[in-house]
Amino acid sequence: AVPVLTIDGPSGAGKGTVSRLVARRLGWHYLDSGALYRAVGVAASWADLDLSDAAALVRCTFDTEVRFREQGEGDLRVLVNGVDATGELRLETTGTVASAIAAIPEVRAALKERQRAFRTAPGLVADGRDMGTVIFPDAPFKVFLTASAQERADRRYKQLNDKGVSVTLDGLLREILARDARDAQRTVAPLRPAEDAVLLDSTGMPIEAVVDKVLSLVRP
Ligand code: CDP
Repeated sequence: AVPVLTIDGPSGAGKGTVSRLVARRLGWHYLDSGALYRAVGVAASWADLDLSDAAALVRCTFDTEVRFREQGEGDLRVLVNGVDATGELRLETTGTVASAIAAIPEVRAALKERQRAFRTAPGLVADGRDMGTVIFPDAPFKVFLTASAQERADRRYKQLNDKGVSVTLDGLLREILARDARDAQRTVAPLRPAEDAVLLDSTGMPIEAVVDKVLSLVRP
């Protein structure tokens, strides 16, 4: 079987950055599963769908074509129904829509096979919330990446500040704690580590150290 390394964890733990770097170092493919949920969210916004209309959102999931295209070194573009939606995908509002959509079981089911199709030679690094538990339960390498809520709030604060968005650190921390509680308690795909996942707390660790640590699991 084609090897898979799953990297799950809460938002802001550095999964995206770590997964991309590890995939590049291994020469493996990379699946950003959150981008799939975000892409459906963008398509739903374009179609002006009502977030409480589950049936319409499920249809939208089936109808939405998502393609990832690497444009030059490390610049991953996401095409939604053929349109480059990379910028829109990263918006905070898109994240909120994505997380509402991700709570619909039929949406998750509809995206299951699409995610599994990314498993092609020589290997796959899969980044998300349920990669090790639901999508690739047989993956030989599983990591659950966390960081303290304070550190995740700090990182997010810096990111938003760089973009010129005005937020308070305190407000962000409260938001992150509320989201953690919601993610852990939701009945659909609650965030939890796979039983065979290696827990990695990246608090205070430079990104390169996290990357090395993860790589050492795959290539000891
Ligand atoms: O950066 P952040 O972690 O907020 O976002 P993301 O990884 O791009 O995922 C966007 C949303 O999709 C998250 O809020 C999750 O609720 C949801 N998601 C999910 O349910 N399952 C996944 N495998 C990936 C994302």
